Amino acid sequence: MPPARPRVVHPARRLRGELRVPGDKSITHRAYLLGAIGHGDSRFRRPGLGADTQATAGVVAALGVAHGVHGDELVVRGRGLSGLREPADVLWCGNSGTTLRLVSGILAGRPFHSFVTGDDSLRRRPMRRVIEPLRAVGAHVHARANDTRAPMAFAPAGLRGACLRSPVASAQVKSAVLLAALQAEGPTSLEQPAPSRDHTERLLRGQGAAVATDGATVTCEPNEALAPLDFDIPGDFSSAAFWIAAAVVHPDAAITIRDVGLNPLRTGLLDVLHAMRADVTVEVERPEPEPVGTVVARSSSLRAADAGGDLIPRLIDEAPLVALLAAHADGESRLGDAAELAAKESNRLRTTAAALAALGVEVDEQPDGFVTAGGQRVGAGRVDAAGDHRIAMLAAAAALTGGGPVTIDDADSAAVSYPGFWDDLAALSK
Ligand code: S3P
Repeated sequence: MPPARPRVVHPARRLRGELRVPGDKSITHRAYLLGAIGHGDSRFRRPGLGADTQATAGVVAALGVAHGVHGDELVVRGRGLSGLREPADVLWCGNSGTTLRLVSGILAGRPFHSFVTGDDSLRRRPMRRVIEPLRAVGAHVHARANDTRAPMAFAPAGLRGACLRSPVASAQVKSAVLLAALQAEGPTSLEQPAPSRDHTERLLRGQGAAVATDGATVTCEPNEALAPLDFDIPGDFSSAAFWIAAAVVHPDAAITIRDVGLNPLRTGLLDVLHAMRADVTVEVERPEPEPVGTVVARSSSLRAADAGGDLIPRLIDEAPLVALLAAHADGESRLGDAAELAAKESNRLRTTAAALAALGVEVDEQPDGFVTAGGQRVGAGRVDAAGDHRIAMLAAAAALTGGGPVTIDDADSAAVSYPGFWDDLAALSK
């Protein structure tokens, strides 16, 4: 790893421009994994090639699946589930929880031994949530720290379908269960407390799998004869969110984001912005297989708003931005029911409050969210991104409307999801 490099972001007099953000990270992970277990070549236009999805690319290659990016197209030469090979070494998942949890669902049903691990942050994150349901369908899986933390080890096992219930509304857990279910005997269903992003379900259906959704319950039939995919990957709404938030809190801003993914299970932030009366227009131009369209965000006077309940899984990665928006609103805003934020790449309850505190913005950290007073101003300061890409980009978005320069330590962690972030920031700042 190159040494962490600080970056300085200056307040922008104006924010103007039109851009496309990188291809969706969640969908690109699935492109590699589902492409790998399909039979034949899958093609995906405009993949997101950040460090996280490249961890998945490495894992898929280590399982014997060739792939490559030619121009703006990713080709994955799928070998089918039965064509995957025993990896010669531990599978390295880097910083990526999506890589580790999703590939676990595949490994659980393979007739070989495998081991998965990742960086310090990933080895601190909770894994029992995926180990328990996989064991319930028959997987032979073990993990460090009393079966709670990576590294994890898989031994050959025959899987059988089951009716499962998970205490967390997690698309990663759901996807791991679906990938195991494809290899099981009989159907598997999983009930979660609320609906979460459904990219795995959409893509698997496109491959011919029988995946049914009923509220927050998903049911999947076994299928080892998955077809290849041919798919345009939309821009990542979670990346677009930084520009949307930066624009609405800035006094002189208009930013247009084209070809961005608008899957309703990802766009809870738009609901919050609507409740805050933000000047954001959204046009869905294509509804299937993933909704895609254009978002225009402009300077706004924001009203305070609360967020919680089923909205939280729909904005989980954008929660740090909700705190920034709230600081610019006209009263006190609360975000609750989001204890999950403590289990992300960093403890985002803590790192969001600390990043904004370093810029003079007070965010009251709660066990399951934040309470933020409105009418605050961002000042100059120094922020530690804590190795978390979304905290680095939060600090940058805040700085654009601030009163002085903001130095961001570990700023290059943005490349985990958005390698071109700093170039786009420079292009939008006038
Ligand atoms: C993701 C699901 C979410 C999200 C993460 C990506 C995915 O995690 O926070 O950035 O691609 O499935 P959880 O499933 O743990 O909520």
